[in-house]
Amino acid sequence: MADSPLTTLNNDVQIPQLGFGVWRVSNENSIPAVTKALEVGYRHIDTAALYRNEKGVGQAIRASGVPREDIFVTTKLWPTEFGREPALAGFEASLERLDMEYVDLFLLHWPAPGRDLYVETWRTLEKLLADDDRVRAIGVSNFAAAHLRRLVDETGTTPVLNQVELHPTLTQADLRETHRELGIATEAWSPLGQSEDLRHPTIRQIAERVGRTPAQVVIRWHLQIGNVVIPKSTTPARIEENFDVFGFELSPEDVDAIEALDAGNRLGPDPEQFDG
Ligand code: A2P
Repeated sequence: MADSPLTTLNNDVQIPQLGFGVWRVSNENSIPAVTKALEVGYRHIDTAALYRNEKGVGQAIRASGVPREDIFVTTKLWPTEFGREPALAGFEASLERLDMEYVDLFLLHWPAPGRDLYVETWRTLEKLLADDDRVRAIGVSNFAAAHLRRLVDETGTTPVLNQVELHPTLTQADLRETHRELGIATEAWSPLGQSEDLRHPTIRQIAERVGRTPAQVVIRWHLQIGNVVIPKSTTPARIEENFDVFGFELSPEDVDAIEALDAGNRLGPDPEQFDG
């Protein structure tokens, strides 16, 4: 299958635009899932300390025979490990569980505004990036516009990307505009709306008309609006189906019709309220 296109981040590091997510995949199940993903051509795997599957992810990557440097690996720091010392320890622990010499991208998993430690922790990540060749890029996840602006105003480094819940019924148009303004790439988690959005009549109609599956239509929409996107599946046929999206294109009208499905349908926590 064709390779994923690459998105160039604001520090010139390149990330495959279509990656593979392993949220809610057990450590045991992450091994066959990541193995299959690498077999069909994914070269970007997204995990987190919280997912408790970094070991399985690392194991599958090593066993795949694909050179480490050909795979983009992201992991994330949970807010209970915010603050300088806990963050440094959290980074070490993730590398150890992955059994890797470096990660490509290290993210603050949530801003956790009630803890008020994300700026201090971001400074720790800045220092890691500057002093250490064990991380190639740093970014954030689940940050609202105000959290991003505070980071940019109070520190010297703009996150390379913000990974947020984003799918056809939660299109995050305003936040995407803020990202564009600040030079931050948008990465979508739960890009299929945890499969809910695949049942939407508009998605089904477009899928039928273009002769693709609803998941392929939604992934294609993400790619065409410029998102980095990380669909999750533990079903081998779906892992393959979700990567088979480079042989067709949606019309601008179909892209707009999907954009119009926004209903503020947040499935996960609200970043303003959630402290981890
Ligand atoms: P499964 O893992 O059982 O294959 P999201 O990435 O938006 O969080 O969605 C993940 C959910 O969507 C999982 O329940 C996954 O099921 C399901 N899913 C993933 N790919 C497809 C697909 N191609 N068709 C239907 N459902 C899918």
